[in-house]
Amino acid sequence: MDQTALATFQTLGDIQSAISKASSMDDALRSSLKVIQEKLSADYAVIWYFDAKGDQLLHPVFWIGPNDLTATSHAVGEGAVGRSYQDQKAIRSLWFENDPDPVTQADFEGLEVRSAVCTPFSSIHENFGVIQVVNKGEDARFTEDDADIIEIMSMTVARALDENEGRFSAWEHGPTIMELRGITREFQNGDSISKILRGINLDVYEGEFLVLLGESGCGKSTLLNIIGGMDKATSGEFRCLGQDLSNADAKTLTEFRRRNIGFIFQSYNLMPNLNASQNLALIADLVDDPMPVEEALESVGLASRAKSYPSRLSGGQQQRISIARALIKRPKIILADEPTAALDYTTSIEVLTTLEKAIAAGTTMIMVTHNEEISRMANRVVRLRGGKLHEVTVNRHPVSASELVW
Ligand SMILES: Nc1ncnc2c1ncn2[C@@H]1O[C@H](COP(=O)(O)OP(=O)(O)OP(=O)(O)O)[C@@H](O)[C@H]1O
Ligand SMILES: [Mg+2]
Repeated sequence: MDQTALATFQTLGDIQSAISKASSMDDALRSSLKVIQEKLSADYAVIWYFDAKGDQLLHPVFWIGPNDLTATSHAVGEGAVGRSYQDQKAIRSLWFENDPDPVTQADFEGLEVRSAVCTPFSSIHENFGVIQVVNKGEDARFTEDDADIIEIMSMTVARALDENEGRFSAWEHGPTIMELRGITREFQNGDSISKILRGINLDVYEGEFLVLLGESGCGKSTLLNIIGGMDKATSGEFRCLGQDLSNADAKTLTEFRRRNIGFIFQSYNLMPNLNASQNLALIADLVDDPMPVEEALESVGLASRAKSYPSRLSGGQQQRISIARALIKRPKIILADEPTAALDYTTSIEVLTTLEKAIAAGTTMIMVTHNEEISRMANRVVRLRGGKLHEVTVNRHPVSASELVW
């Protein structure tokens, strides 16, 4: 067997094995898409699904790539995806010499599309959607073999969906509360500049629970600090709650943070010389319409510890006080940076249950964590890599804190 045929064979084997190891249909789709994206080092790999019961549009169910496609959709017949779906024929734009296909270009606003493959997937009963892979890395040229692999994957996926009666519909999310466009952050280190964030594009929706994952040092805390108005981006646009904060001065950012954002950190940062209720009162004094201190303590299950000083409280209790301190402002948005990293399993679940209640009450939450298990609670999971978004996953079946195990 020649080398390319062997590589093709191996990729197909990897896809099969990813599907057979998967714990759910979602997992199977996601992991087989990952295999394709990694083997081809593609800029984007997307599974578009036709919402037959809903709005009759193609929506992304899984994707890997540097832009947030959550709110993107294609009409049947529109763009390469819509056409491939309509005609039930693969579009193999293996390489555009000087002439990018406007049909494919239209799918990815702002991205230079050098090559793309779109493959419809369908069963004998119905047409499901399209798998799209854009811009092969390095040699940047898809081969016919690559396109064959994507077509075979689409058949495998369709069969698996058919057998499991897997059905997707568009994710119903709230209105956009936050928009990040091309956010960069550079730090001066002596003579050199380190580029930590290299163009983050993300929308956040009202009421969602968004988990931010990524390797240590990839810029998660940096991003969270920019979102919370504690740090400023080097460049890019940032809009939040209808306010354009891209070029806001320090005073405006402080005011924005005070009114709208609740912070929770890994270290609880409580004032050691103030008791629980005094710690809360300190923050309540800063805002117009705070929650009564007793109510905030009640909401984290610690009404009885109002008079306790931080040193008399366990780590989990201190963290719950710090959650109460965030909640007392009735913030629209809570930003949590590894809130359970210092806690054991049982205490972590208590803390997460407390946060879960705040989300259920309508607070938007963005949480940085190293704990993959926690991401099962989220509506969306965002992975950062190399200073950019790497993957955004919509979690169709978020679980409650009490179901997590680690
Ligand atoms: N004020 C600063 N000055 C210089 N470099 C900084 C500054 N803040 C952060 N960095 C650098 O930016 C990079 C990203 O830091 P950040 O704290 O955002 O990472 P992280 O993803 O939160 O990591 P971890 O998971 O370990 O908390 C690191 O290399 C860090 O050293
Ligand atoms: Mg961090």
